[in-house]
Amino acid sequence: MNAADAVTDALRELHTRYAGLRDGRLADYIPQLALADPGAFGLALVSMDGHRYSTGDADLPFTVQSVSKPFVYALALSLLGLDEVCRWVGAEPSGEAFNAISLEPDTGRPANAMVNAGAIVTTALVPDTRDAPRFDRILGFLGRFAGRRLDVDEQVYASEALTGDRNRALAYLVRSAGPLPVDPVAAVETYFRQCAVRVTALDLAAMAATLANGGVNPLTGDAVVPEPVAAHVLAVMATCGMYDVSGDWLLRVGLPAKSGVSGGLIAAGPARFGLATYSPLLDPAGTSVRGHLAIDALSERFGLHLMHNPALAASTVTMVTTADDLPAAPAGERERAHHERVAVVAAQGALDFTAAERVLYALDESGPQETAAVVLDLRPVTDIDTVARAMLRSGLDRLTAGGRRVAVADPAGRLVEEGDEAGAARRFASREEAVDWCASGRAG
Ligand code: DON
Repeated sequence: MNAADAVTDALRELHTRYAGLRDGRLADYIPQLALADPGAFGLALVSMDGHRYSTGDADLPFTVQSVSKPFVYALALSLLGLDEVCRWVGAEPSGEAFNAISLEPDTGRPANAMVNAGAIVTTALVPDTRDAPRFDRILGFLGRFAGRRLDVDEQVYASEALTGDRNRALAYLVRSAGPLPVDPVAAVETYFRQCAVRVTALDLAAMAATLANGGVNPLTGDAVVPEPVAAHVLAVMATCGMYDVSGDWLLRVGLPAKSGVSGGLIAAGPARFGLATYSPLLDPAGTSVRGHLAIDALSERFGLHLMHNPALAASTVTMVTTADDLPAAPAGERERAHHERVAVVAAQGALDFTAAERVLYALDESGPQETAAVVLDLRPVTDIDTVARAMLRSGLDRLTAGGRRVAVADPAGRLVEEGDEAGAARRFASREEAVDWCASGRAG
C-alpha cells in the first residue's frame, strides 16, 4: 500500500459513505440544471506534484456556475491589480445569499466578488478588445487553470439567459449606484456564458490546485497567475466563498472554498492540494449536500483545517556548538584554543520566515560573551525564500557590525544576492574552511 492508495481509498470510502444520501434538491431556477442526474457523485484531488486522484463521476461534465467566480476574479486581479479591482468590488463577507442585493450603502460597490453582484462587476472589469474579446479571455483563462481547453454548454447558457432577470436587475442596480464600468446587459450575458463553461470534478480539482500552488498549474507547469494573486483569491474564498455559511465552513472545514448551483464544490489546501466534488443535490445555501459532507470528512480525517497547528517540519537548527566540539576539529592545543572561540550554528531544510527566525535566534544565543566568531553552516539547507535570505543577510550583517567575525558555509550560494556575496559575512565551500578562517582571525 502506498500513499497514492491511501488517498484514493479515502475518496472511495467517502463516495461509498455518501452516495446513497438523497437529501437536498436540484437547482431549478435555471431550468436546464433541473435535468441533472441527482445520483451523480464524483470526487477528485490534485496534489502540488500534479498527482491526480479521483473516484465516482469525476469525469462527468457539468457547468461551472459560481465556481467560475474566483478564477475570473483572479483574471481581473492579474490584469488590473488589487487596488483597482477593490475600487469596484469589495472583499467583505456579505452574510447573505449568493443572489442578494449585497451593495455597500454609500458607494453601491458589491460586497465581494463571490456573490453574484460582485461577480458580474468582476466579469465587467475584464477588458474587451477586438483582438481579445472579454469572453474569449475568460474561457482561455479558465482552461489554463484546468490544464485543457474548455467549452460552453449552450443549452445551459440559453436556459439561464432566458430566466436570469434577477441577475440583470442586480447589474442595473449596480450601475444605478455608480460602479459598473460597462453596459449591464453585456456584462450579464458574459457572466451567464462564464457560468455555462463545462468542467468535470477533475478539472475543478486542477483549478483549485493551481490556486493552492501559488498560481502555477501543477499538471502543466503553466504560471497562470502571479503568486500574490493566488493568495488574494484564496483569502476571498476563505471569507466569502460559501456565502452566508462562509463562517461556519471556515470554522468546521477550515479551507478556502467555492460552491456552485450545478453541484460543483472546490476547496484548496494552500501549498498542499486542490479538491473538488460534484453532486447536484443542494442544501438551502446552494451548496452540494454530498460535496459538503465529503470535504468536511476529508478535512477532519487528514487534519487539513488551515488553522490547526501544523505538524512542525524537522527542526531548522540542527546544531549549536563550538568548533572544538565538532568531530573534524583539529586536536592540536593551540588550534583548540582558537577553535573554542568559534561558535557553529547549522541549519537544514527549506528556510522561510519562521525558519530564519529560528536560525537568527540560535546565532544570537551562540554567545556574544565568550565566542567572538560564528559560522553559519547552510550546507544541509535545501531551499531559501527571499524573505529568509534577506533576514539572514541582515542578521549576519548586524553580527559583523557588532564586532563578531562571521562566516557561512554556503557552497550553493544560497545567501548570495544578485552576484553580491553573502553580505558582510565571508562565504566558504566547507564548514572546516569557514571555522579555520574564523579561528585564524582570532589568532591574528
Ligand atoms: O448567477 C447565477 O445564479 C448562477 N449562474 C450561478 C449561481 C451559483 O452558482 C451560486 N452558487 N452556489
